[in-house]
Amino acid sequence: MSKAKHQVGGRGNILELPSSKLAKPISYEEGIFYSTIKNNDRYTPLRPFLPRTYGFFDASDDDLKRIRTKELKVMLEKLSNLALIEQKTNNTRYFVMENLTLGMRKPCLMDIKMGRRCHDLIDDYEKKIKKIKKCKASTSWSCGFRLIGLKKFNHKTGVYERRDPEWGVSLTEEQSEDPLRIFLNNGLKNRVDIAQFFFEKLKKLRAVLRQYTGLRFYTSSLLFIYDAFSNRANLKLIDFTHSHVDIPQGEDDDGYLFGVENLIKILEKFIKENK
Ligand SMILES: Nc1ncnc2c1ncn2[C@@H]1O[C@H](COP(=O)(O)OP(=O)(O)O)[C@@H](O)[C@H]1O
Ligand SMILES: [Mg+2]
Repeated sequence: MSKAKHQVGGRGNILELPSSKLAKPISYEEGIFYSTIKNNDRYTPLRPFLPRTYGFFDASDDDLKRIRTKELKVMLEKLSNLALIEQKTNNTRYFVMENLTLGMRKPCLMDIKMGRRCHDLIDDYEKKIKKIKKCKASTSWSCGFRLIGLKKFNHKTGVYERRDPEWGVSLTEEQSEDPLRIFLNNGLKNRVDIAQFFFEKLKKLRAVLRQYTGLRFYTSSLLFIYDAFSNRANLKLIDFTHSHVDIPQGEDDDGYLFGVENLIKILEKFIKENK
């Protein structure tokens, strides 16, 4: 059992299980969100945009040391009716999902926090004001997305190149294309093939998201992945710590689609330039 490699965002506490699947310690809310999407047929069109899920288990730190693939199979419970299943005391609830970088020789990842709103309904007044201020001073507000982190393999230097959340939050609207441009340049050329993949995927995601009115993905991310040594790529929604499925339309809009639109525009421009 080890920490998952290649994390570019978050608290870095996702574990890699012996079976290569990932286990993320989740909040009650993230569990509820995942189990709702997984079990309600209304969300069938959205499911392909989320990492594949295998269930959850509750474990203490001592339990984790003992986990082997066989034992985990026994421990793993279905992600159904999570709201009704009481968490075992003093244990952390782990949610098991596919590792999106599996089989890639040099996975390149970019975590983009989506939307114009960075606070949740439950945040207290002080937290809300702080987050609104941070949002308005960054591309979250002007573009509907903000870079959390990226790492890409540079074929010229032979090493990974990284950008962190401080860099992401410092970008102006004029610099908002930089994360995608840096991510898609491998040191020798622009990966137009990968840009095309993300472009098509985002257009499909936009069409799916337009079907729903109650979904809100406050502070959630889009995870962009490709392999520096092949044409494999992936684009998934991740991190639903502050996501909801049943918010009435109106003032609580997350600005997610605004962000998706802008990413589509950037990719379209990039593809045209590189033809
Ligand atoms: N299914 C996955 N496959 C591969 N990497 C992942 C997966 N889910 C998350 N990650 C990596 O872990 C990081 C943190 O994940 P996230 O769900 O955002 O956790 P947190 O709630 O700590 O922010 C992501 O930026 C990404 O690099
Ligand atoms: Mg995150």
